[in-house]
Amino acid sequence: MDRIVIQGGVSLKGEVPISGAKNAAMPLMAACLLTEEECRVENLPVLHDVESFLSLLRRLGVRVDSRGASAELQASDLAGSRAPYDLVRKMRASVMVLGPLVARMGKAEVSLPGGCAIGVRPIDQHLKGLAVLGVDIRLSDGYIHARAGRLRGAEIFLDLVTVTGTKNLLMAAALADGRTRIHNAAREPEVVQLAEVLSAMGAEVRGAGTDTVEIVGVPRLKGFEARVIPDRIETGTYLLAGAVTGGEVCVTGTLPEHVGALTGKLCAAGIDVREGGDRIRVKAGRPVKAVDVQTAPYPGFATDIQAQMMVLLCLAQGTSVVSETIFENRFMHAAELRRMGADIRVEGSHAVVTGVDRLAGAEVMATDLRASASLILAGLAAEGETTVNRVYHIDRGYERIEEKLSALGAKIERVE
Ligand code: EPZ
Repeated sequence: MDRIVIQGGVSLKGEVPISGAKNAAMPLMAACLLTEEECRVENLPVLHDVESFLSLLRRLGVRVDSRGASAELQASDLAGSRAPYDLVRKMRASVMVLGPLVARMGKAEVSLPGGCAIGVRPIDQHLKGLAVLGVDIRLSDGYIHARAGRLRGAEIFLDLVTVTGTKNLLMAAALADGRTRIHNAAREPEVVQLAEVLSAMGAEVRGAGTDTVEIVGVPRLKGFEARVIPDRIETGTYLLAGAVTGGEVCVTGTLPEHVGALTGKLCAAGIDVREGGDRIRVKAGRPVKAVDVQTAPYPGFATDIQAQMMVLLCLAQGTSVVSETIFENRFMHAAELRRMGADIRVEGSHAVVTGVDRLAGAEVMATDLRASASLILAGLAAEGETTVNRVYHIDRGYERIEEKLSALGAKIERVE
C-alpha cells in the first residue's frame, strides 16, 4: 500500500491550478442516464472516484469514451438497471444512478450504501422523495428495488438538507410529468451546476441555489455538453496549505465566491487573503489567531474543509472551538493530529483546539479523504518527517496532489 512521506517545515510558495470538482462531476455523469443522446463532460478530475463512476456507467450499458479530462457518454442502449454491491460499497455516490435509472427505465436495483468512516449516512430522504414522485420502493437482500411508471411531479419536503438527495430527486423529476418542488433543497454549487445541465437537457428549472427548487419535467431529455466547475474543497485545501506553512500560495482557475465561508475565517485568523477574477492568494505572516468554526450546508462552512482548517487552528494563538454539525464521526483526524503534538479535546460534536507553537512529524494513518488531506497539511507544517499511511483515500479526491504540492516547494513523495 502506498504511503506519502513529507519532510515538513518548508513555507509553500507559488501558484497551483485547481481541478474540476469530484462532487460536481459525478452527478453530471449520472445525468447521461436520463437521455439516449450523447453527452459530453469536460474538465473531469482524474481521480479514482471518477474512474469508478465511469465503470458503473459502463456496467449499466453506457457507451463511455473517456480521454483524460473529457468523456463522451451515451446511454442509448442501457443493458441493465442494477448498481451492484461491489461498486456501491467502494463509492457511496453510486446511489446517484437511482433517480435517473428509475425515471428513464421504470426500474432500478441499487445496492443500499452502508455507513462509512465519517457517519451512518442513511438515504431515507432520497427514498422518501422518490416515493412521493410515484416510485414503488422495496428494500430486500441489501438492495433498493425501485419500480415506477412515468413519474409525476409533486411537492417534496426534505427533513434535512441533503446534497446527493437533492441531486437524485432533481434528476428523477426532470423526466416526471409536471412540476416538482423540492423544499429544503441543498444549495451547493454542485447542485446548481446539475440544475443548469438539466435545463440545457430540456427540463425547466427554477430556484437552484435557493432552498426551494422547482423543476418541470419533460418526456424526453436532450444530450448536453458541460464543463465541470472548479473544486472548492481542493481550492480550500491549497489555501490552507499556504496558510499552515506560513507561505504565499495563489490558487488559479477557481471561483472565489464558492469559498467565501472559508476565506472569511482565514481573514478572521489574520491571514492576508486577496481575490481577483479566478484567483485567490493567501499570504501568511502575522501570528494566526484562534477562530471558532461551525460546519453547515452551503453557503456555510463546508464539512469537507473542517479537518484541514483544524490544522491551522492547531497552530493558532489561543483556543478555537470547531463544531461539526453534518456528520457524527468526522473528528477522526483529531487523534492523529494529537500524535503530532496538537492539543485537541473532542467533546461530542465539538473539538476544542488550543494552539501549540509547533507540530512534530510522526507516522499517521488516514481514515477518509478529507482527514488524509488534513494529515498531509499537518505534515507540511510539522518539523521533521511525517508518513501518511493509507493514502488511497487521497487518490479518491485530490488529483496529482504530490505533484501540485511539490511545485509549491513541498518536500513530499509517494513510496510503495
Ligand atoms: C455530499 O455527501 C458529498 N459527497 C460529501 O463529500 C459532503 O461531505 C456532503 O455532501 C456534505 O456536504 C458527494 O457529493 C458525492 P448529505 P452526501 O446527504 O450528499 C444526512 C467528500 O469528502 N442524511 O448532504 O452523501 C447524512 O447522514 C464527501 O467529498 C440523512 O439523514 O451528504 C448527513 O448527516 C464526503 N438522510 C447529512 O444528512 C438522507 O437521506 C448530510 O448528508 C441523506 C442524508
